[in-house]
Amino acid sequence: MPDQPAPFLRIDGVSKTFGTFQAVKDVSLTIAKGEIFALLGGSGCGKTTLLRMLAGFEEPTAGRIWLDGQDMTGVPPWERPVHMMFQSYALFPHMSVAKNIGYGLKHEKLTKDQRMARVREMLDLVQLTPFADRKPHQISGGQRQRVALARALARQPKLLLLDEPLAALDKKLREHTQFELMSIQERTGVTFIVVTHDQEEAMTLADRIAVMDKGQVKQVGAPGHVYEHPDSRFVANFLGSITQFPARVSSVATDRATVEVPAFGATVETGLIPGLAAGEALTLAIRPEKLTILREKPAGLNAIPGEIKDLAYFGKDSLYRVILPSGELISVHAVNAKREDNRPDWYDKIWLGFEPASAILLRD
Ligand SMILES: Nc1ncnc2c1ncn2[C@@H]1O[C@H](COP(=O)(O)OP(=O)(O)OP(=O)(O)O)[C@@H](O)[C@H]1O
Ligand SMILES: [Mg+2]
Repeated sequence: MPDQPAPFLRIDGVSKTFGTFQAVKDVSLTIAKGEIFALLGGSGCGKTTLLRMLAGFEEPTAGRIWLDGQDMTGVPPWERPVHMMFQSYALFPHMSVAKNIGYGLKHEKLTKDQRMARVREMLDLVQLTPFADRKPHQISGGQRQRVALARALARQPKLLLLDEPLAALDKKLREHTQFELMSIQERTGVTFIVVTHDQEEAMTLADRIAVMDKGQVKQVGAPGHVYEHPDSRFVANFLGSITQFPARVSSVATDRATVEVPAFGATVETGLIPGLAAGEALTLAIRPEKLTILREKPAGLNAIPGEIKDLAYFGKDSLYRVILPSGELISVHAVNAKREDNRPDWYDKIWLGFEPASAILLRD
C-alpha cells in the first residue's frame, strides 16, 4: 500500500458553545485536497457555525483545526488560505461585475496588470466575460451567484467554504449551476466544502457528505454509501424517503438473518450487520424503490401481503401507499417501464416483494 497522503484539512474534536448552548459537538473530519465535501443537515444543526470556525470567524471552544499541516488555532481569517462564500452572497450593487470580482485582490501584492489578468481569467472561468461591465442588478440570479464564486476564487484560496451557495436560485437554475460548480471545482482543483440542507444537491455535488444533527456528525461517506447503508434512523430518514418498522431478530445464519416484523404479520430474511443475535430488538427500514408490487405471491423473495391505499401517477413513475396486514402504511415507488394499463389501482390486493439485501437493519 502506498503511503496515505496527510489529510488536507483535519478537524479534530471541535466543539463550539455559545453561552450554555452547544452548537457544534465534538466534530472530527478529515478532508482530502481537491475534494468536494458537503455538510448536510436541518436548519440550526451547526453547519454555518462549523464553517465559521474553519474560516476563522469563530474560535472553537474545544478541539483543533489543521489546514495543510498548519494548526489554525489563533490564526485570524485574513491569514488563512480560506475563503468563505456566505449564505447571502452580498455583491456591491454600485460596482460592475469585473470590479466585484477584483475587489478582494486589492489587498494582495499584485500589479494592476496582474490584477486585471486575474479578473479576466475568473470571468472566463465562470463564463461571464460578456457581462463584465454590467452591475449586479443587470444580470440574473444564477449569474450573480457565479460572480460571487468568481470573487471567492480570484484570491486563489486553498479551501473554499460555500454556505448554501445555490439557495437563492430556482430549481432549474440550481440544477444547472450544480454542474457548473462541479466543473469549476474540477478545473481549479480547489477544495470545496459546501453547506446545504438540500440532500439531492449534496448528493449531486459532493464526493463525500457528512450528515449533521444537533451539532454532531452522524455519518460520513460517499453519497451512494450513506444512502444505501445508513447507520442510524436519523440518517436513513434524512436522506431520501424510507419506511421504518420495529423488528426482532428470530435467528441468525452465516449470511442471513430471519427477522420478525409485526407490521408485516410475517418474518422476513435480511442481510447481516455485525454482532446480530437472536432476540435483538431493532428497526427494519426499507426504501420505496426497493419494493416490487406483484399480483401473485412471489417465490424466493420476501413477500408481504397488502392493499393499495393511495397512488400518485407521475407518468414515468408512480408512488403507492400500501396498507399492511397491521394497518400500517408503507411507501412503494414503481417505474412505469411498460406502456400498459393494468397497473395496480386503488383497493387492489397485491403482494410486495423485496430482496433480503434491500432491508436495512438499524440499531441507533
Ligand atoms: N453567535 C451565536 N450565539 C448564540 N447562538 C448561536 C450563535 N450562532 C449560532 N447559534 C446557534 O447555534 C445553532 C447552530 O446555528 P448554525 O447557524 O450553525 O445553523 P445552520 O446549521 O447553519 O442552520 P441553517 O441551515 O438554518 O443555516 C443554532 O441553534 C443557532 O441559533
Ligand atoms: Mg446556516
